[in-house]
Amino acid sequence: MRYLPPSSSLLALGLLFASVVAKPQDGDRTTEQEEAQIKGALPPLDPNAECAGYYYAPVSNALSQFPAPAAQAHMVPGDTEAQDKFNSIKDLIPNIAPKGTPEGDFSSVASYPSDDPDCWWTRTQCVSPKLQGLPPDIFEVPEPLTNGYGFDDGPNCSHNAFYDFLQEQNQKATMFFVGTNVIYQPLEAQRALTDGHEICVHTWSHHYMTALSNEDAFAELWYSVTPTCWRPPFGDVDDRIRAIAAALNLQTILWKYDSFDWKVTSGQATPDQVNKNYDDFANTAKTGGFDTPWHGGIILSHEGDQFTMQAAIDNYPKLKDAFKYIVPVGVALNKTRPYVEANYSLPTFDKYISGTTVVLGETPQSDGATTSLALGAAAASGTSTAKSSQSSSAGDSNHQAGNSTGNSTGSSGKNDALSTIGSPASSQWLIMVVLTAFFAALHL
Ligand SMILES: *[C@@H]1O[C@H](CO)[C@@H](O)[C@H](O)[C@H]1NC(C)=O
Ligand SMILES: *[C@@H]1O[C@H](CO)[C@@H](O)[C@H](O)[C@H]1NC(C)=O
Ligand SMILES: *[C@@H]1O[C@H](CO)[C@@H](O)[C@H](O)[C@H]1NC(C)=O
Ligand SMILES: *[C@@H]1O[C@H](CO)[C@@H](O)[C@H](O)[C@H]1NC(C)=O
Ligand SMILES: *[C@@H]1O[C@H](CO)[C@@H](O)[C@H](O)[C@H]1NC(C)=O
Ligand SMILES: [Zn+2]
Repeated sequence: MRYLPPSSSLLALGLLFASVVAKPQDGDRTTEQEEAQIKGALPPLDPNAECAGYYYAPVSNALSQFPAPAAQAHMVPGDTEAQDKFNSIKDLIPNIAPKGTPEGDFSSVASYPSDDPDCWWTRTQCVSPKLQGLPPDIFEVPEPLTNGYGFDDGPNCSHNAFYDFLQEQNQKATMFFVGTNVIYQPLEAQRALTDGHEICVHTWSHHYMTALSNEDAFAELWYSVTPTCWRPPFGDVDDRIRAIAAALNLQTILWKYDSFDWKVTSGQATPDQVNKNYDDFANTAKTGGFDTPWHGGIILSHEGDQFTMQAAIDNYPKLKDAFKYIVPVGVALNKTRPYVEANYSLPTFDKYISGTTVVLGETPQSDGATTSLALGAAAASGTSTAKSSQSSSAGDSNHQAGNSTGNSTGSSGKNDALSTIGSPASSQWLIMVVLTAFFAALHL
């Protein structure tokens, strides 16, 4: 939810970017495992180790297919695939005027009608679209007694201690990644997959989406897509933006509680206030506030920086004590097929809570049967021992995964990407580049 990147860090990002795209250098990390082994301290951060830029060929080679990082996304000139896709969904986008500025200055919309015709979350916290045919936003999880656990604004270059902690707890979460951050920190993004977290889109550049033109809003999502879920930066969504997201098969995930962890580094809140927000959330759980179906909890918290990650670690025991289950949002939704790539899967809620927190997706065989690789928690650490627990699963529940977001999954052109995974040159999606490298690393 923080505004990313703040202008003061643009220069730093630019320098980092320079080292990302430059030629290979001594000391480069080239694998997820190498990156994950750099032990950052929490706190204090050693920015020279974990946060040093590195050359990573799969991303460098794909950069021309993406908008410039650290800036608002626009459709890449000559990208006919994106243009065709945009043209094909154009008619689904309602005629709602953009609001305010991409930086969130909404003073020009002061006279926005109080009956909220656009279901604009920023003004009214509206989560039930008024435009027919749009699915409601997810801001609570269906499973009672459950916390849909997630973090915004990653991947952060200094996240190893935080991810180590989650791994020690065998705790998975939903990571809402900013596209630009994935470009700068591809190996850190891969770690999220290796560790079994769910990845959702948090747009390319983290601007207020309702301010953008149809085409620019499309670009913010398109170049970050192969996940099937997204969270609007600042929660800023209305029916126009929902329509674009839905046309790209992205389920909109909001939250009901805010830890306000994102306010501390900029001095707008104190650590005590954040801890109290976590306390209130935990107490709500303890007093039955999340006991009924579709009223499980979602609290907004961030991978953003060392403070937010440390606050997540410090408050985890509290949540563990207050909730019966803490699972990624997609797991609470039984969303077993979280990405366009069938290569990756999430466990069902039942599987997760009975201990299978990581499953690998389907590998198509020549005869069309499928194979599912179930990974034990120990194998989730990025070793490639997955094949030892290989088991045939044709016809089991994993196989229906593609249906898990209702029948909308697969209805967009993105599904065509399934057939193009072997040829990254034709893929237009950032995460696909990362996923492809990830699966290549696992030798699947
Ligand atoms: C990542 O965390 C570090 C340490 O707190 C912070 O300085 C940096 O700005 C963060 N990076 C991003 C992209 O937010
Ligand atoms: C998830 O699956 C479990 C077990 O089959 C079921 O009880 C639950 O209702 C499902 N949740 C959703 C949201 O479909
Ligand atoms: C697919 O989704 C629809 C709508 O949610 C549901 O009615 C149907 O049972 C699902 N089919 C399978 C095979 O899961
Ligand atoms: C499901 O598929 C049917 C038939 O293809 C279509 O009419 C309907 O709009 C789809 N529903 C969703 C939510 O995509
Ligand atoms: C899975 O990933 C591998 C390696 O990138 C690729 O060869 C294969 O086609 C992928 N399969 C699917 C179904 O995505
Ligand atoms: Zn954010």
